[in-house]
Amino acid sequence: MTLDAEAFIDEVARRLLAHVQEKDRPGRVSPEASLPTMRRTLDLGLPLEGFGVDNVLDDLDTYIANSVKTNRSEFMNPLWGGLSLPGLAGEIIAAATNNSMYTYELSPMGTLIEQTLIKRMNELAGFPDGFGTFTTGGSNGNMLGMLCARERALPNSTKTGFDGRAMAVFVSAEAHYSVLMSSNVIGIGHQNVIKVACDDEGRMRPERLQEEIEFARREGMIPFCVVATAGTTVRGAFDPIDALASIAHEEGLWLHVDAAWGGACLFSSTHRSLMHGIDKADSVCWDAHKMMSVPLMCSVFLIKEPEILRRLCDHASVAHYLFHSEAASDDLGRYSLQCARRNDALKLWIEWRVRGDAGWAKMVDQNMDDADYLEAKIDQDPRLEMMSKRTWTNVCFRYNPGSDGHDINEVNAEIRQRLIHEGSFMVSRSNIGEEVVLRMVLVNQNVTRASLDRFLARVVHHGEEICRGLPAAD
Ligand SMILES: Cc1ncc(COP(=O)(O)O)c(C=O)c1O
Repeated sequence: MTLDAEAFIDEVARRLLAHVQEKDRPGRVSPEASLPTMRRTLDLGLPLEGFGVDNVLDDLDTYIANSVKTNRSEFMNPLWGGLSLPGLAGEIIAAATNNSMYTYELSPMGTLIEQTLIKRMNELAGFPDGFGTFTTGGSNGNMLGMLCARERALPNSTKTGFDGRAMAVFVSAEAHYSVLMSSNVIGIGHQNVIKVACDDEGRMRPERLQEEIEFARREGMIPFCVVATAGTTVRGAFDPIDALASIAHEEGLWLHVDAAWGGACLFSSTHRSLMHGIDKADSVCWDAHKMMSVPLMCSVFLIKEPEILRRLCDHASVAHYLFHSEAASDDLGRYSLQCARRNDALKLWIEWRVRGDAGWAKMVDQNMDDADYLEAKIDQDPRLEMMSKRTWTNVCFRYNPGSDGHDINEVNAEIRQRLIHEGSFMVSRSNIGEEVVLRMVLVNQNVTRASLDRFLARVVHHGEEICRGLPAAD
């Protein structure tokens, strides 16, 4: 390496700045080259003799050029997006300091920061004595919730193993697919995930949950867990947590709430009622990398009774090379399924210090206002239609000119493809029942009303061209 540290950091910072600033210039959101073109043209080879640092930093420019620009206002695809600079700073410093979160000894201030965040997020959820851990994402947070439910239903199953073939978990029919992954990992299998019917707005129906539990028992199954969703992936629906908690607890079941997407509503006095009853849940997962716009990954698992999580993670007690009794309550590795663990808390903490609770509330309210705006625009345009009632910032709609002869699902799928092809916008394609919908979400802090207007205009433009039989422009 011939560069000294200062010159090296300057070089990297120059590229970083160019990337950050590019978001305000005209440009594409998706890379121009297709995957086959990239495969053919990019030099990705791993050399036998290294090229040396002087010769590879330009590779970073190539990488940026061939990446999706998730910080641009035209990026409206998944349940995350934008780039917040304090969070980015936290991410960079966490990587540079490279502390591992398993012990207090190896991450002193990081431990205190993570404890502070977990405590505050537990307070927001209404778990005054709760604890938890940062996880690798909402998917693993759901898995952890189901594992804790299993440990409570079958104490010691962590140690003795168990026969999962009759164990049943109940989820909304519109729950995220990570519940299937979780059912596999915890040892009950996909077929023991019972999907409970939803109402017209995509919320789990409590009376159907009751019926499904009773039916499962009659079939000889052992219900042990209900997973409610606070903010479903496609429609942004909130299951009625209060009613589900009453049923789950009367039946002796654990209630885990997947608030990966909707958890941030707890900051807003206007919108927190969406999660009414959250204090009655047993565990919650909440992704700060979604609505709270912290860089990927940043996800928290919260539990009302910390002892169950500690029991679940009792494997840590044999690791004499890491854990010692003096720091038992501060070694966060005793509450985690990971061994070495990156510090995802720093970026959230620094972002929270910048914004405060008030800033988070404002952000949620602003996203909701923008979603109202977009919905109103769709309602005003006879060529567009909303495909589901809106509760959160998910806006599910489609282009529908009402003319004959077109498969409207194909038209909307093609609209999305053309947007990506021309690099103008990225939006999710999802299904509601048999219908293809364009699922917009308000989450990216760089989205503006002007970009929302341009987005709808572009959707209509492509819809009209497709219906007139015009090919996509090159
Ligand atoms: C409702 C819901 N739960 C869980 C997840 C999974 O979160 P992650 O991608 O952090 O694993 C998602 C992802 O979009 C989601 O929408």
